[in-house]
Amino acid sequence: MLLENKVFIVTGASSGIGEELSKQLSKEGAKVVCAARTEAKLKKISEKINSSGGHSIYIQTDITILEQCQNLIDRTIEDFGQIDGLILNAGISMWAKFDEITDPGFFSELMKTNYLGSVNCCFAAIPFLKKSNGKIISCSTAQAIMGFPNHSGYVASKHALHGFLETISMENKGEITILEAVLSWIRGTNLRGNSFRADGKKHKDEYRKHTNQSVSLESCVGSIIDGIKKEKKTIYIPKKLGLIPFLNTFFKNFLQKKVIREINKNKN
Ligand SMILES: NC(=O)c1ccc[n+]([C@@H]2O[C@H](COP(=O)([O-])OP(=O)(O)OC[C@H]3O[C@@H](n4cnc5c(N)ncnc54)[C@H](OP(=O)(O)O)[C@@H]3O)[C@@H](O)[C@H]2O)c1
Repeated sequence: MLLENKVFIVTGASSGIGEELSKQLSKEGAKVVCAARTEAKLKKISEKINSSGGHSIYIQTDITILEQCQNLIDRTIEDFGQIDGLILNAGISMWAKFDEITDPGFFSELMKTNYLGSVNCCFAAIPFLKKSNGKIISCSTAQAIMGFPNHSGYVASKHALHGFLETISMENKGEITILEAVLSWIRGTNLRGNSFRADGKKHKDEYRKHTNQSVSLESCVGSIIDGIKKEKKTIYIPKKLGLIPFLNTFFKNFLQKKVIREINKNKN
Protein backbone atom coordinates (compact mmCIF):
# COMPACT_ATOMS: atom_id res chain seq x y z
CA MET A 1 0.00 0.00 0.00
CA LEU A 2 1.34 3.44 -0.93
CA LEU A 3 0.93 5.80 2.02
CA GLU A 4 1.09 9.16 0.19
CA ASN A 5 -2.26 10.98 0.69
CA LYS A 6 -3.89 7.95 2.33
CA VAL A 7 -6.09 8.68 5.36
CA PHE A 8 -5.26 6.79 8.56
CA ILE A 9 -7.13 6.89 11.85
CA VAL A 10 -4.89 6.04 14.82
CA THR A 11 -6.63 5.21 18.09
CA GLY A 12 -4.57 5.72 21.24
CA ALA A 13 -2.58 8.46 19.49
CA SER A 14 -1.94 10.46 22.67
CA SER A 15 1.09 8.43 23.75
CA GLY A 16 3.47 5.54 23.05
CA ILE A 17 3.02 3.49 19.89
CA GLY A 18 0.00 5.52 18.67
CA GLU A 19 1.84 8.83 18.97
CA GLU A 20 4.88 7.46 17.14
CA LEU A 21 2.67 5.85 14.46
CA SER A 22 0.94 9.19 13.85
CA LYS A 23 4.31 10.94 13.44
CA GLN A 24 5.90 8.30 11.19
CA LEU A 25 2.76 7.90 9.01
CA SER A 26 2.63 11.64 8.42
CA LYS A 27 6.32 11.65 7.45
CA GLU A 28 5.36 9.05 4.81
CA GLY A 29 2.81 11.53 3.39
CA ALA A 30 -0.32 10.05 4.95
CA LYS A 31 -3.10 12.21 6.41
CA VAL A 32 -3.51 11.25 10.04
CA VAL A 33 -6.50 11.43 12.39
CA CYS A 34 -5.26 11.24 15.98
CA ALA A 35 -7.82 9.84 18.44
CA ALA A 36 -7.72 9.26 22.21
CA ARG A 37 -9.39 10.64 25.35
CA THR A 38 -6.76 13.21 26.42
CA GLU A 39 -7.43 16.18 24.17
CA ALA A 40 -4.51 18.34 25.36
CA LYS A 41 -1.96 15.67 24.40
CA LEU A 42 -3.62 15.03 21.02
CA LYS A 43 -3.61 18.76 20.24
CA LYS A 44 0.12 19.02 20.96
CA ILE A 45 0.96 15.96 18.84
CA SER A 46 -1.21 17.07 15.92
CA GLU A 47 0.25 20.60 16.00
CA LYS A 48 3.79 19.17 15.99
CA ILE A 49 2.96 17.01 12.96
CA ASN A 50 1.41 19.94 11.08
CA SER A 51 4.23 22.34 11.89
CA SER A 52 6.73 19.87 10.40
CA GLY A 53 4.82 19.79 7.12
CA GLY A 54 2.45 16.90 7.88
CA HIS A 55 -1.32 16.84 7.64
CA SER A 56 -3.25 15.77 10.74
CA ILE A 57 -6.35 16.48 12.79
CA TYR A 58 -7.27 15.29 16.27
CA ILE A 59 -10.62 14.09 17.54
CA GLN A 60 -11.16 13.42 21.23
CA THR A 61 -12.60 9.91 21.39
CA ASP A 62 -13.32 7.36 24.09
CA ILE A 63 -13.50 4.16 22.06
CA THR A 64 -15.65 2.45 24.71
CA ILE A 65 -18.52 4.76 23.66
CA LEU A 66 -20.05 3.86 20.30
CA GLU A 67 -21.40 7.38 19.62
CA GLN A 68 -17.89 8.81 20.00
CA CYS A 69 -16.50 6.24 17.54
CA GLN A 70 -19.27 7.14 15.11
CA ASN A 71 -18.31 10.82 15.56
CA LEU A 72 -14.65 9.95 14.91
CA ILE A 73 -15.56 8.35 11.59
CA ASP A 74 -18.09 11.03 10.54
CA ARG A 75 -15.64 13.87 11.23
CA THR A 76 -12.84 12.06 9.37
CA ILE A 77 -15.10 11.73 6.33
CA GLU A 78 -16.15 15.40 6.61
CA ASP A 79 -12.50 16.54 6.70
CA PHE A 80 -10.77 14.05 4.43
CA GLY A 81 -13.57 12.36 2.43
CA GLN A 82 -12.25 8.81 2.87
CA ILE A 83 -10.65 6.32 5.28
CA ASP A 84 -7.87 4.05 4.03
CA GLY A 85 -6.57 2.67 7.31
CA LEU A 86 -7.97 2.14 10.80
CA ILE A 87 -5.26 1.43 13.37
CA LEU A 88 -6.68 -0.31 16.44
CA ASN A 89 -3.97 0.72 18.84
CA ALA A 90 -5.73 2.14 21.94
CA GLY A 91 -5.25 -0.29 24.79
CA ILE A 92 -4.81 -0.84 28.52
CA SER A 93 -3.10 -3.60 30.46
CA MET A 94 -2.68 -5.27 33.86
CA TRP A 95 0.04 -6.98 35.91
CA ALA A 96 -1.27 -9.32 38.64
CA LYS A 97 -1.47 -13.05 39.24
CA PHE A 98 -5.11 -14.11 38.98
CA ASP A 99 -5.37 -15.70 42.44
CA GLU A 100 -3.93 -12.55 44.06
CA ILE A 101 -6.56 -10.25 42.55
CA THR A 102 -8.88 -8.76 45.16
CA ASP A 103 -11.18 -6.90 42.76
CA PRO A 104 -11.74 -8.44 39.30
CA GLY A 105 -13.84 -5.44 38.15
CA PHE A 106 -11.03 -4.25 35.89
CA PHE A 107 -11.43 -7.33 33.68
CA SER A 108 -14.50 -5.65 32.20
CA GLU A 109 -12.47 -2.43 31.66
CA LEU A 110 -9.87 -4.44 29.74
CA MET A 111 -12.58 -6.04 27.60
CA LYS A 112 -14.42 -2.74 27.05
CA THR A 113 -11.28 -0.99 25.79
CA ASN A 114 -9.13 -3.61 24.08
CA TYR A 115 -11.91 -5.68 22.53
CA LEU A 116 -15.28 -3.90 22.50
CA GLY A 117 -13.70 -0.47 21.86
CA SER A 118 -12.07 -1.90 18.75
CA VAL A 119 -15.38 -3.49 17.73
CA ASN A 120 -17.03 -0.02 18.06
CA CYS A 121 -14.38 1.54 15.80
CA CYS A 122 -14.72 -1.24 13.20
CA PHE A 123 -18.53 -1.02 13.28
CA ALA A 124 -18.40 2.68 12.38
CA ALA A 125 -15.49 2.48 9.90
CA ILE A 126 -16.14 -0.67 7.87
CA PRO A 127 -18.62 0.86 5.37
CA PHE A 128 -15.95 3.43 4.43
CA LEU A 129 -13.05 0.94 4.48
CA LYS A 130 -15.01 -1.19 1.97
CA LYS A 131 -15.32 1.78 -0.38
CA SER A 132 -11.57 2.44 -0.31
CA ASN A 133 -10.42 -1.21 -0.18
CA GLY A 134 -8.87 -0.15 3.08
CA LYS A 135 -6.98 -1.84 5.87
CA ILE A 136 -7.50 -2.55 9.57
CA ILE A 137 -4.31 -2.82 11.60
CA SER A 138 -4.29 -4.17 15.14
CA CYS A 139 -1.54 -3.74 17.73
CA SER A 140 -1.64 -7.16 19.31
CA THR A 141 0.69 -9.29 21.39
CA ALA A 142 2.26 -12.74 21.20
CA GLN A 143 0.55 -13.35 24.53
CA ALA A 144 -2.82 -13.49 22.73
CA ILE A 145 -1.58 -16.67 21.04
CA MET A 146 -0.04 -18.48 24.02
CA GLY A 147 -1.28 -16.90 27.30
CA PHE A 148 1.02 -15.16 29.78
CA PRO A 149 1.37 -15.03 33.58
CA ASN A 150 0.05 -11.86 35.29
CA HIS A 151 -1.78 -10.83 32.12
CA SER A 152 -4.88 -13.08 32.18
CA GLY A 153 -7.49 -10.36 31.51
CA TYR A 154 -5.27 -8.52 29.02
CA VAL A 155 -4.50 -11.72 27.09
CA ALA A 156 -8.20 -12.64 26.99
CA SER A 157 -9.15 -9.23 25.54
CA LYS A 158 -6.47 -9.43 22.82
CA HIS A 159 -7.42 -13.05 22.06
CA ALA A 160 -11.03 -11.91 21.59
CA LEU A 161 -9.89 -9.14 19.24
CA HIS A 162 -7.80 -11.63 17.25
CA GLY A 163 -10.83 -13.91 16.75
CA PHE A 164 -13.05 -10.98 15.80
CA LEU A 165 -10.59 -9.72 13.17
CA GLU A 166 -10.05 -13.20 11.68
CA THR A 167 -13.81 -13.28 11.07
CA ILE A 168 -13.93 -9.72 9.68
CA SER A 169 -11.13 -10.74 7.31
CA MET A 170 -13.18 -13.69 5.99
CA GLU A 171 -16.43 -11.72 5.75
CA ASN A 172 -14.78 -8.93 3.73
CA LYS A 173 -12.34 -10.81 1.44
CA GLY A 174 -11.42 -8.68 -1.55
CA GLU A 175 -12.71 -5.53 0.14
CA ILE A 176 -10.80 -5.02 3.41
CA THR A 177 -7.42 -6.40 4.44
CA ILE A 178 -6.24 -6.97 8.00
CA LEU A 179 -2.73 -6.63 9.38
CA GLU A 180 -2.10 -8.03 12.84
CA ALA A 181 1.09 -6.67 14.42
CA VAL A 182 2.21 -9.18 17.03
CA LEU A 183 4.41 -7.26 19.43
CA SER A 184 6.84 -8.16 22.17
CA TRP A 185 7.72 -5.70 24.99
CA ILE A 186 8.08 -2.19 23.63
CA ARG A 187 10.10 0.43 25.57
CA GLY A 188 9.08 4.05 26.02
CA THR A 189 5.29 3.78 26.31
CA ASN A 190 2.88 4.35 29.22
CA LEU A 191 1.33 0.88 29.08
CA ARG A 192 3.03 -0.47 32.22
CA GLY A 193 2.40 2.63 34.32
CA ASN A 194 -1.27 2.61 33.34
CA SER A 195 -1.81 -1.07 33.98
CA PHE A 196 -4.13 -2.48 36.65
CA ARG A 197 -2.66 -4.12 39.75
CA ALA A 198 -4.23 -6.83 41.96
CA ASP A 199 -6.47 -4.41 43.89
CA GLY A 200 -7.86 -2.90 40.68
CA LYS A 201 -5.91 0.37 41.05
CA LYS A 202 -3.29 1.57 38.53
CA HIS A 203 0.39 0.70 39.03
CA LYS A 204 1.55 4.23 38.09
CA ASP A 205 5.19 5.00 37.32
CA GLU A 206 7.50 2.47 35.70
CA TYR A 207 7.20 -0.31 38.27
CA ARG A 208 8.87 -2.99 36.11
CA LYS A 209 12.06 -2.27 34.19
CA HIS A 210 12.33 -3.40 30.58
CA THR A 211 14.95 -6.06 29.82
CA ASN A 212 17.47 -5.74 26.97
CA GLN A 213 15.15 -8.00 24.92
CA SER A 214 12.63 -5.13 24.59
CA VAL A 215 12.20 -3.23 21.32
CA SER A 216 12.45 0.56 20.89
CA LEU A 217 9.35 2.52 20.00
CA GLU A 218 10.86 3.88 16.79
CA SER A 219 11.96 0.48 15.55
CA CYS A 220 8.59 -1.14 16.43
CA VAL A 221 6.62 1.53 14.58
CA GLY A 222 9.03 1.43 11.61
CA SER A 223 8.30 -2.30 11.29
CA ILE A 224 4.51 -1.78 11.51
CA ILE A 225 4.68 0.82 8.72
CA ASP A 226 6.84 -1.50 6.65
CA GLY A 227 4.20 -4.24 7.16
CA ILE A 228 1.44 -1.86 5.96
CA LYS A 229 3.42 -0.92 2.85
CA LYS A 230 4.21 -4.55 2.02
CA GLU A 231 0.57 -5.66 2.51
CA LYS A 232 1.54 -8.23 5.15
CA LYS A 233 -1.19 -10.14 7.00
CA THR A 234 0.81 -10.73 10.18
CA ILE A 235 4.09 -9.25 11.37
CA TYR A 236 6.09 -10.31 14.41
CA ILE A 237 8.16 -7.68 16.22
CA PRO A 238 10.89 -8.79 16.76
CA LYS A 239 10.86 -11.42 13.99
CA LYS A 240 11.81 -14.28 16.35
CA LEU A 241 8.28 -14.09 17.84
CA GLY A 242 7.16 -15.79 14.63
CA LEU A 243 8.32 -19.06 16.24
CA ILE A 244 5.65 -18.80 18.94
CA PRO A 245 2.67 -20.29 17.03
CA PHE A 246 4.87 -23.27 16.09
CA LEU A 247 6.32 -23.73 19.59
CA ASN A 248 2.89 -23.31 21.17
CA THR A 249 1.48 -26.08 18.96
CA PHE A 250 4.31 -28.62 19.10
CA PHE A 251 6.38 -27.70 22.19
CA LYS A 252 3.88 -26.07 24.56
CA ASN A 253 5.45 -27.42 27.73
CA PHE A 254 8.91 -26.16 26.74
CA LEU A 255 7.51 -22.72 25.83
CA GLN A 256 5.52 -22.34 29.04
CA LYS A 257 8.50 -23.36 31.22
CA LYS A 258 10.74 -20.86 29.40
CA VAL A 259 8.24 -18.02 29.94
CA ILE A 260 7.80 -18.85 33.65
CA ARG A 261 11.60 -18.96 34.09
CA GLU A 262 11.97 -15.53 32.45
CA ILE A 263 9.19 -14.02 34.58
CA ASN A 264 10.78 -15.34 37.78
CA LYS A 265 14.22 -14.10 36.70
CA ASN A 266 12.91 -10.54 36.18
CA LYS A 267 10.78 -10.39 39.31
CA ASN A 268 12.89 -7.79 41.12
N1 LIG B 1 4.07 -1.52 24.99
C1 LIG B 1 4.11 -2.82 24.80
O1 LIG B 1 5.03 -3.49 25.28
C2 LIG B 1 3.04 -3.49 23.97
C3 LIG B 1 3.22 -4.84 23.64
C4 LIG B 1 2.23 -5.48 22.89
C5 LIG B 1 1.10 -4.78 22.47
N2 LIG B 1 0.96 -3.46 22.83
C6 LIG B 1 -0.28 -2.78 22.43
O2 LIG B 1 0.02 -1.56 21.78
C7 LIG B 1 -1.05 -0.64 22.02
C8 LIG B 1 -0.48 0.71 22.45
O3 LIG B 1 0.17 0.56 23.70
P1 LIG B 1 1.32 1.53 24.25
O4 LIG B 1 2.36 0.64 24.76
O5 LIG B 1 1.65 2.57 23.26
O6 LIG B 1 0.57 2.14 25.52
P2 LIG B 1 0.28 3.64 26.02
O7 LIG B 1 1.49 4.49 25.85
O8 LIG B 1 -0.29 3.49 27.38
O9 LIG B 1 -0.85 4.13 25.01
C9 LIG B 1 -2.18 3.69 25.11
C10 LIG B 1 -3.06 4.64 24.34
O10 LIG B 1 -4.41 4.15 24.40
C11 LIG B 1 -5.26 5.25 24.69
N3 LIG B 1 -6.51 4.78 25.31
C12 LIG B 1 -6.66 4.05 26.42
N4 LIG B 1 -7.97 3.86 26.68
C13 LIG B 1 -8.66 4.49 25.69
C14 LIG B 1 -10.04 4.68 25.40
N5 LIG B 1 -11.00 4.18 26.18
N6 LIG B 1 -10.38 5.39 24.30
C15 LIG B 1 -9.43 5.92 23.49
N7 LIG B 1 -8.12 5.78 23.71
C16 LIG B 1 -7.73 5.08 24.81
C17 LIG B 1 -4.43 6.16 25.60
O11 LIG B 1 -4.86 7.51 25.52
P3 LIG B 1 -5.86 8.28 26.53
O12 LIG B 1 -5.55 7.81 27.90
O13 LIG B 1 -5.54 9.71 26.25
O14 LIG B 1 -7.24 7.91 26.05
C18 LIG B 1 -3.07 6.06 24.92
O15 LIG B 1 -2.98 6.99 23.86
C19 LIG B 1 -1.97 -1.28 23.08
O16 LIG B 1 -3.10 -1.82 22.44
C20 LIG B 1 -1.11 -2.39 23.65
O17 LIG B 1 -1.88 -3.46 24.14
C21 LIG B 1 1.89 -2.81 23.55
